[in-house]
Amino acid sequence: MCVSSAPVFSLFLFDPLKTHQTLSKMAAGLFWRKVEFVGAGKSSVLRSWFHGSAGLQSGSQSGFFPPVEGAMLPKGSFDNKVAFITGGGTGLGRAMTTTLSQLGAQCVIASRKLDVLQQTAEEISSQTGNKVHAVQCDVKDPQAVSQCVDQMESLTGLPDVIINNAAGNFVCPSEGLSPNAWRAITDIVLNGTAFVTLELGKRLIQKQKGASFLAITTIYAESGSGFVVPSASAKAGVDALYKSLAAEWGRYGHRFNIIQPGPIKTKGAFSRLDPTGVFEKEMIGRIPVGRLGRPAEIANLAAYISSDFATWMSGAVIRFDGGEYVWMAGEFNHLCCVTPEQWKTMEAMIRSTKGS
Ligand SMILES: *[C@@H]1O[C@H](CO)[C@@H](O)[C@H](O)[C@H]1NC(C)=O
Repeated sequence: MCVSSAPVFSLFLFDPLKTHQTLSKMAAGLFWRKVEFVGAGKSSVLRSWFHGSAGLQSGSQSGFFPPVEGAMLPKGSFDNKVAFITGGGTGLGRAMTTTLSQLGAQCVIASRKLDVLQQTAEEISSQTGNKVHAVQCDVKDPQAVSQCVDQMESLTGLPDVIINNAAGNFVCPSEGLSPNAWRAITDIVLNGTAFVTLELGKRLIQKQKGASFLAITTIYAESGSGFVVPSASAKAGVDALYKSLAAEWGRYGHRFNIIQPGPIKTKGAFSRLDPTGVFEKEMIGRIPVGRLGRPAEIANLAAYISSDFATWMSGAVIRFDGGEYVWMAGEFNHLCCVTPEQWKTMEAMIRSTKGS
């Protein structure tokens, strides 16, 4: 039975020893293909050696795609704005809070763990010089959400920017899912996003105040994914919720957008998801850009979407994954394993079948 919840990607709930053994076995079964760039610039010749069909490239192309981590928007882009970020104490939520705070926003971060929140709030605030408030909130409890919004109203007033980032997830074969396991995840992800969004939405409408709502979901909200079925189902629900409200609440001055991130490396997360580093290698093998995402990169995108530079954007679903989704989806993408010599052979074979 799998019963638990944890922030997205910090969620390998198997016994660590067993996990290690499983991953080692997986490692033995994985075949890696090396890709080497010979020469440079336009005429660089891509030579590859492959020993199997898994994976794309070794990641050396990531040199073409260096992450830029400083804040992208002009300083002061969020002056006099209030931003509310759920799950803002750690990981991606923390990164988004940091960027918004740097850009002038007064931030309110919310999650269940007040001590973690308070520490993050202090750290960010001393770094940026802008106030960050920590408010305890269990998003799956509508009453707690309402109290949290009360508290925010008296601290900062209603927010201009809402980022629904809090989530829970774990990997588990679906035949092992208990109703409680299903509930644990759907409560946080789908109910939680709905409660926060509806509570704030209603109050904002009443006060005739506009706002930008952003939901952080996942690339598999679109495709579905085995072994994370409650998360996939709930995230798909969040996508539907935000697309629906983008249509309905524009008339109240509200925008709704969605970021579907691929694998982004966060500190606590990968240490538990991927103790041996095997998953990380495997992930990178299917990302055309050749590397994982960085929290600061999604923070810049989230800041842009939430800013007045993006007031024309609503109902958008932005996949942010280094190309992972399309690489996994395309039926013929494994052909990037084929060497130039093999292509020549194949071309000759194809030509010889013409007219037959
Ligand atoms: C939230 O979702 C769960 C299903 O996962 C449901 O049992 C519950 O009643 C929902 N609503 C509330 C108010 O908790």
